[in-house]
Amino acid sequence: MGIFRTKGIEQSIADTDEPEYQLKKNLTALDLTVFGVGVIIGAGIFTLTGRAAATIAGPAIVLSFVVSALCCALAALCYAEFASTVPVSGSAYTFAYASLGEIIAWIIGWDLLLELMLGASVVAQGWSTYAVVLLENLGIGWPAALGPGGTVDVLAMLLVALLATLITIGIKESMRVNLVLVAVKVFIVLFVIIAGIGFINPANYSPFIPPPVPGASAVEHWYQQPLLQAALGLEPTAFGVSGIFVGAALVFFAYIGFDVVATTAEEARNPQRDLPIGILASLLICTVLYAAVALVITGMVKYDQIDPKAALASAFTSLGKTNYATLISAGAVAGLTTVVLTLLIGASRVVFAMSRDHLLPPVLSKVHPRFQTPYVITVVIGVVTMLVAGLTPIGKLEEMVNIGTLTAFIVVSIGIVVLRRTRPDLPRAFRVPFSPALPIASAAICVFLTLNLSIETWLRFVIWMVLGFALYAAYGYRRSRLATGETLAEMGHAHR
Ligand code: ALA
Repeated sequence: MGIFRTKGIEQSIADTDEPEYQLKKNLTALDLTVFGVGVIIGAGIFTLTGRAAATIAGPAIVLSFVVSALCCALAALCYAEFASTVPVSGSAYTFAYASLGEIIAWIIGWDLLLELMLGASVVAQGWSTYAVVLLENLGIGWPAALGPGGTVDVLAMLLVALLATLITIGIKESMRVNLVLVAVKVFIVLFVIIAGIGFINPANYSPFIPPPVPGASAVEHWYQQPLLQAALGLEPTAFGVSGIFVGAALVFFAYIGFDVVATTAEEARNPQRDLPIGILASLLICTVLYAAVALVITGMVKYDQIDPKAALASAFTSLGKTNYATLISAGAVAGLTTVVLTLLIGASRVVFAMSRDHLLPPVLSKVHPRFQTPYVITVVIGVVTMLVAGLTPIGKLEEMVNIGTLTAFIVVSIGIVVLRRTRPDLPRAFRVPFSPALPIASAAICVFLTLNLSIETWLRFVIWMVLGFALYAAYGYRRSRLATGETLAEMGHAHR
């Protein structure tokens, strides 16, 4: 017993068979890939690309996307192995519980909450920004006080409320809505690429890696400087070669989501085979699309003139193609909807797993008798996300989401190596090649990217972690099922 107690993998899988806590198993490999693409393509490509190109990396943002994709590809292989070994709801959290111990699992669960709930709020605000642009293009004004940046972002709140309701009613139904919206989104991204190619001016690619600019707009204050630059005692700069890596740490946000596929493991029909397919296929599709979009946008508009807010639409507006811009805004509204939807689903599944283990109060993981969804937690998460998205200025906290996610990736990568040693006997439908070199490289690249995040992001992250430890000490440490030895079956009796 103690903070490094681990939960047996067989136990994790057996828990999923308890009728009261059972989720419907009906997602296919295609569903999972669509789910992945649905959550990956979002605010990252629609808004961050512009900001990162204009203020951090210039046309070399394409290279940032490649660096970030490399990091994600290695982590995705690790995720695929664990998801095929421990196909239980809760993703990296469950995996860490089985391989590295309770305290690490708690840290991961806490990080995933940051990734998923804060991510959902950030994207909901991005969604409302595009929604206002679209409404305006259609001749409908929206009061500024009730929009993004206003007193209350009513649009973002409405979106979250609607989506949380949808998820409560049933995941299969959510998937159907998702499919349509994902199709629209992929179409729009392809549209940007194909329509934009003709407008590329090769002169815009020069200089491809703009020379370093000290004290540039992205680093006005000391705390906005990337931690690595500060640690090396360098002057705060944007652009240059370091801009590629700082850009990579930021656009990492655009790739977040393939890992969320793993949170639905319990709802997959054949998780051992379909999860690795879903994770790797969705990541590959998005990488190709992102590199193409980044090349097209920086080719269409000189990097220092790119609109940092709605780069994709604005690139066409600046060429007089207003209709194209309206279409792209509409696509962004549809596209960002699926991201928020999927992040909310992911968040509810992580809390579901944590509360089933009693690291959070067990009442949260009750499954609805008719809808077969964890409705209590969905409602709680929906309300919290709604309030954060509606009332706080979190629109620019992508970096905070990134640091939470990167930390989860680091733990998963190390977990692969640990579990291969401690449980070599487990059936693994998918195995990471070149282990342990590849998982170690994966963890190293993730650490490197976190060091390229700003000092303020690190400070916020430390505060978040301190809160997490306090909560664990006050609740989970004593109440977790591993601590009390209570089984789900006994609890079921207690409930009746
Ligand atoms: N990858 C998701 C996005 O870009 C979170 O919005």
